[in-house]
Amino acid sequence: MKILFVNGSPRGRFSVTLQTCRYLEKRFPGHSYEYLNVGAGIESFERDMSAAASAFARAELVIFAYPVYSFLVPSQLHRFFELMHEHKLAVKNQYVTQLTTSKHFFDVTAHRFVEENCRDLGMRFIRGLSADMEDLLSERGQKEADAFLAYAVYCAENGLWEKGPVPAEKEPPVYACTIEPQKKKDGFDTVIVGDLREGDESLRSLIKDFDAAYPYKTRFVNLADFPFKGGCLGCLNCTFSGHCVYRDGFEDFLRDSILNADAVVYAFTLRGHSMGSRFKMFDDRRFCNGHRTLSEGKPVAYLCLGDCGDEHNLTTVLEARAQVEHAYLAGVASDAESIRDTAARMAWALENAYVPPRNFYGVGGMKIFRDLVWLMRGMMREDHRFYRKNGLYDFPQKRWPRMLGIGLLGAVMRSKRLRRLVGKKMNDGMLAPYQAVIERTGGKP
Ligand SMILES: Cc1cc2nc3c(=O)[nH]c(=O)nc-3n(C[C@H](O)[C@H](O)[C@H](O)COP(=O)(O)O)c2cc1C
Repeated sequence: MKILFVNGSPRGRFSVTLQTCRYLEKRFPGHSYEYLNVGAGIESFERDMSAAASAFARAELVIFAYPVYSFLVPSQLHRFFELMHEHKLAVKNQYVTQLTTSKHFFDVTAHRFVEENCRDLGMRFIRGLSADMEDLLSERGQKEADAFLAYAVYCAENGLWEKGPVPAEKEPPVYACTIEPQKKKDGFDTVIVGDLREGDESLRSLIKDFDAAYPYKTRFVNLADFPFKGGCLGCLNCTFSGHCVYRDGFEDFLRDSILNADAVVYAFTLRGHSMGSRFKMFDDRRFCNGHRTLSEGKPVAYLCLGDCGDEHNLTTVLEARAQVEHAYLAGVASDAESIRDTAARMAWALENAYVPPRNFYGVGGMKIFRDLVWLMRGMMREDHRFYRKNGLYDFPQKRWPRMLGIGLLGAVMRSKRLRRLVGKKMNDGMLAPYQAVIERTGGKP
């Protein structure tokens, strides 16, 4: 079988993910292999997609091989998907799967994003492999990689793919302002970050309406005007030196224009199940702040030109981002009514310093970060300092009195007689500390 690996890592031939492709090439010599380096070579595909078109035309099985970057794919691969759509690459009915390496932090949303885009292109999608970046170093990881390729080839040879609804291409809707501006109050700095290009009149109106509905002054930062030198290269220079290798002023821009605001609203046009590759470039470049939750406690909202109702994966990413940051998600607004609601919720959250506790996305995500930073603390020194200072190393073994108590209870409950005796009092015992809190509690003024 003719297999095409689309290498989406900006690290090009130094990609960790690519090593699994090379390993598979050796393990399965009966197939022929071709590589397309879209992560490191995206500029050349911007100029000319013909090499990509002929590589895809030759392939019987396409494997997108990439690292998970900031809940999704690297901005370069994201852009490549946009180019595939723009150039209407002839990939209909072609078998496709994916192979990623990561720390499993939201690998699931990255995989779903690629699946959605492949389905849009009419490709026949086969479920992929999400490996930890060190998996290939173990026998188990090697076996899983072997099984993945054998499975993908079996599916492609036998006409098996994940059938599902083929999404209808929807043009972003036209939006016109309807909200009367209200009198502004001082007190909070709210920034609206958008990717607004010439002719994006509907998105401009969406932003205008939010500003009209919102009781505080807003300022607008346009990502389309920022002179990005490129997407994150994954070089980790920022981890060692604290600074990005690009000298395009992004760090100052991020700190001075966005991170210092009291609340952030992101405005985008929904395309290809995402906020677009320029926003993705912005998200990936935020990696210069490592794994520090620098927007903690600050409300966040999204203005989406397009119907987010069916975009479960995208809305999961937006919710999960807020969760990991421990920020209140005031809303994802796309019409006048939801804009009014989002503006009101955001203002109230600011005035009342409202931050609900993290849910599974936030708690689970932070545990992955915590373990990673702890393991890599020799390198991720800024992150380590931040995690220590903010008590984020919440390893359970530090809660000695609680563990001792539970150990004692466990010992008691092993005896049938004691279990009968204690059993009856168990519920009372469990609820006693809660009872004490309720008894101490007075009415809120
Ligand atoms: C900018 C950036 C963002 C990342 N985001 C994630 C992420 O969201 N989830 C995750 O599990 N790993 C994340 N990682 C880790 C990479 O996925 C991981 O190191 C991967 O194995 C790198 O593969 P590569 O060498 O092929 O590029 C990120 C790394 C970088 C540099």
